[in-house]
Amino acid sequence: MAARPKITVVGAGNVGASVAQYAVERELGDVVLVDVIEGVPQGKALDLAQAGPVHRYDSALVGSNGYDETAGSDIVVITAGLARKPGMTRDDLLFKNAEIVGGVVDQVVARSKDAILVLVTNPLDAMVQLAWKRSGFPPERVVGMAGILDSARFRTFIARELDVSVENVTAFVLGGHGDTMVPLPRYSTVAGIPITELLPKATVDALVKRTANGGAEIVGLLKTGSAYYAPAAATVEMIEAILRDKKKILPCAAYLDGQYGVRGLYVGVPVKLGRRGVERIIEITLTAEEQAAFQKSAAAVRELVDKLKL
Ligand code: NAI
Ligand code: 2OP
Repeated sequence: MAARPKITVVGAGNVGASVAQYAVERELGDVVLVDVIEGVPQGKALDLAQAGPVHRYDSALVGSNGYDETAGSDIVVITAGLARKPGMTRDDLLFKNAEIVGGVVDQVVARSKDAILVLVTNPLDAMVQLAWKRSGFPPERVVGMAGILDSARFRTFIARELDVSVENVTAFVLGGHGDTMVPLPRYSTVAGIPITELLPKATVDALVKRTANGGAEIVGLLKTGSAYYAPAAATVEMIEAILRDKKKILPCAAYLDGQYGVRGLYVGVPVKLGRRGVERIIEITLTAEEQAAFQKSAAAVRELVDKLKL
């Protein structure tokens, strides 16, 4: 029998531990959990392994403060880094997390040359660009998680507004993972019907605004950290699409080489995700207004990336 795929998750904090949990609950592979805090990845890995007999999964879990156990990984998810704290500027987070993510990338690519890197650390789009440059990997093997989360938030709000099953709702959110993200109501549907035909414009606008503010809304409630259940669920959807070669169309931060009028930059767009990573960038037709919003979002990402002087 073939060995199970190997999934490394770097950063055993809120998002990383939840990614490990959801991944083993679906038996997507064996998981190596890495963190700098002594005992934490080991403890969480052991605790999750001991949930296996009850939840009925055989996936193996190991925790480590080093990288030797990660060798030969199929997927490496990077969640290591800081979340924004009071008094911290966006730039503080950018430079600190760039240092952390850069160091992590060096360690993992030295041991897993064929892996697909899935970035989660914020500021997301800039961290994916950094990881791609630093890894030397082809762009299709470096991808960022944000669009699935932002779309899932939009879907939740739409389903609640219309009192329908979330399973009936699809939604599209493009652009960078930040204030300038671009939710697309025209391409967001309930059982195939665009929400623009089901809801008044003012309601759609309010849902769009709440979606763009979705991360901050949770921070405001939690106070000591940011969202992690939905981010982890979104990340695991990507892991599953890749390892099971689902060829699923999902919004992810992917490298644009002229698509949507953007060149040489990672931004959120619909992609086909399969065993080779980003197998295709899907270009959808945008109205002039949507295209302008997308360009504005890409420009905001470019501004952050430029500061990193990659
Ligand atoms: P957390 O603070 O719970 O966990 C981060 C973990 O990273 C900590 O355990 C810390 O010890 C570890 N870490 C720090 N430096 C490290 C290093 N050099 N090597 C290995 N591990 C290291 O934070 P949480 O909530 O898990 O968030 C993690 C990151 O993900 C943050 O940057 C957050 O903003 C981002 N995020 C991004 C989302 C997205 O949509 N892309 C959604 C949610 C969170
Ligand atoms: C979120 O959107 C913090 O980026 C994270 O919840």
